[in-house]
Amino acid sequence: MTKNKSNSYLPVILVTGCSSGIGLCLAQLLLPKINYRVVVTARKASLDKIFEAGLKETDRFLIRELDVSSRSQRSRVVREIQDLWGGVDILVNNAGFAYRSVMEEMDNSSEASQMITNYLGPMSLIRLVLPYMRKCGRGKIISVSSVSGMLAMPTMGSYSASKHALQGASEALWYELKPFGIDVSLVQPGFINSRSFQNVRYSKKSHIALTEDGPYSEYYKNMQPFVAKLMAKSRVDSKDVAKTILKVIQTQSPRFIVPATPDAVLFYYIRKILPRRWFQPLLFYLLPRARSWAKKHSTARPQSFWQKLKRWM
Ligand SMILES: NC(=O)c1ccc[n+]([C@@H]2O[C@H](COP(=O)([O-])OP(=O)(O)OC[C@H]3O[C@@H](n4cnc5c(N)ncnc54)[C@H](OP(=O)(O)O)[C@@H]3O)[C@@H](O)[C@H]2O)c1
Repeated sequence: MTKNKSNSYLPVILVTGCSSGIGLCLAQLLLPKINYRVVVTARKASLDKIFEAGLKETDRFLIRELDVSSRSQRSRVVREIQDLWGGVDILVNNAGFAYRSVMEEMDNSSEASQMITNYLGPMSLIRLVLPYMRKCGRGKIISVSSVSGMLAMPTMGSYSASKHALQGASEALWYELKPFGIDVSLVQPGFINSRSFQNVRYSKKSHIALTEDGPYSEYYKNMQPFVAKLMAKSRVDSKDVAKTILKVIQTQSPRFIVPATPDAVLFYYIRKILPRRWFQPLLFYLLPRARSWAKKHSTARPQSFWQKLKRWM
């Protein structure tokens, strides 16, 4: 157990991806919380954004470089915390990004970087902090997932795969860590009123398809403004999600799935109630102009009303 001078326990929190959005808001919320020791992190190129936001280091609030895809940086930051404060009591895996690309236009290196940042990096960090948590008989692993961890959308397949992987592994962890007194939670935001869509990346081919006519061009042209519009309309912003994470940090035995936006709650129940064979056609119907996507390029034969109905049954 780590103790401060007054002999009271001050849990150590490590947060990834604090240069913007949810991570930065969480860092701002944690700065005045004197009952925690906190290490907020960002990639080297983005570290300045934390200082520009007015955050300063104190003896219980540290700002460190961490690219979650770097093995040496992951080890270095966890080792420093172990030397200083014993170990990490609460890990918040927040860092993440999304590719916008249909699966056919992804490539191996884009796919790998998506999985490393959103899944493999967080899992490696979890493995680094677990021995200390097990020794203490307590701890929290909180990972920021997404509605994309429970359902997939066209042009976001790779991102969705990374969040599904995060959710699958976290569910296994929940069982594995319960006997050790360690809580595992997934915070699931849906659409957030934030600028994070500006950080969406494109594979080489999806980038070309944005400007040139191709079999999937209509998908991007419709999905991009659709997502931007839903984000702009959302009443939940990054700070609200950060508050939800803070609540999970402060709650004893938090829930495994913590929806962080109203649409996340809605999709959670829709997925529980509707069978997949109804859910998927319904979502397809609701996507902007999806029924006319690829019309120019598709050689598929049109289906009769009865054929379509049969697929619903
Ligand atoms: N915004 C949404 O609508 C939404 C919805 C559902 C889930 N989420 C999830 O919420 C989390 C936070 O996203 P956000 O909305 O706050 O977006 P954001 O503003 O783009 O923040 C993402 C953060 O992750 C960092 N990051 C990216 N790659 C990294 C790496 N390899 N190592 C360390 N840090 C890295 C970014 O740092 P750089 O500045 O260096 O790139 C940035 O600080 C993500 O896991 C995201 O998938 C967001």
